[in-house]
Amino acid sequence: MKVMRAIELGKTYRDGEKETEVLRQINLEIEAGEFIAIAGPSGSGKSTLLGLLAGLDKPTQGNVFIGEHEITSLSENRLAKIRGKMLGFVFQSFNLIPTLTALENIELPLLLNGIHDHSKAKELLDLVGLSHRHKHYPSQLSGGEQQRVAVARALVCDPPIILADEPTGNLDSNNSKAVIELLKGLSENRGKTVVVVTHDLDFAAKAERIIHINDGRIQ
Ligand SMILES: Nc1ncnc2c1ncn2[C@@H]1O[C@H](COP(=O)(O)OP(=O)(O)OP(=O)(O)O)[C@@H](O)[C@H]1O
Ligand SMILES: [Mg+2]
Repeated sequence: MKVMRAIELGKTYRDGEKETEVLRQINLEIEAGEFIAIAGPSGSGKSTLLGLLAGLDKPTQGNVFIGEHEITSLSENRLAKIRGKMLGFVFQSFNLIPTLTALENIELPLLLNGIHDHSKAKELLDLVGLSHRHKHYPSQLSGGEQQRVAVARALVCDPPIILADEPTGNLDSNNSKAVIELLKGLSENRGKTVVVVTHDLDFAAKAERIIHINDGRIQ
């Protein structure tokens, strides 16, 4: 089953007279449960592509399907609902809320969906090996720990698809390994579809499929 599709996707930024074509003719089909790496040089369009797949940004050409939903033409409201149900997003910069503890950060997406379930957030904190840090604020956690909290937060609503932008970009090799194994395990043991943008070739090598992007095109 295909959980995600991009068809003839293109993105051009316009700034007055100036046009920058960042992505063109991207065609992509992602199967349920796949673990995919998107690799390519800095500035090649990887984050832009991930943002379009997640519906965080609109393309200038083409279509994106999440399941059977074509998302580029949806209202922000509908899109937010589908995103909330289908997607977990891990940002390179973690994007944790500094005034919330690790546990509260993980719980936040549940609360935003009107679900009060303490045990689910605790279970995920456990999964990422941070039960003993539940009362810590982001500033009291290492980079690797913050990244694992961000992964747990992306998982808390149990989405079938996880999109992660350079999730090991700020980590040392040990912490990188832990995050890579965690993401790989989600695909292997829990049937999640995992799409990861990475510079790290060791990481990319662990994926079932590598999509190489260069200059806005799939190679
Ligand atoms: N808002 C914008 N306006 C104009 N150009 C932009 C904008 N956002 C991104 N770009 C350009 O789009 C290109 C692709 O950016 P993108 O962030 O997708 O690259 P990337 O492959 O993720 O790079 P990196 O590996 O450094 O994160 C870059 O050349 C960037 O300068
Ligand atoms: Mg990027």
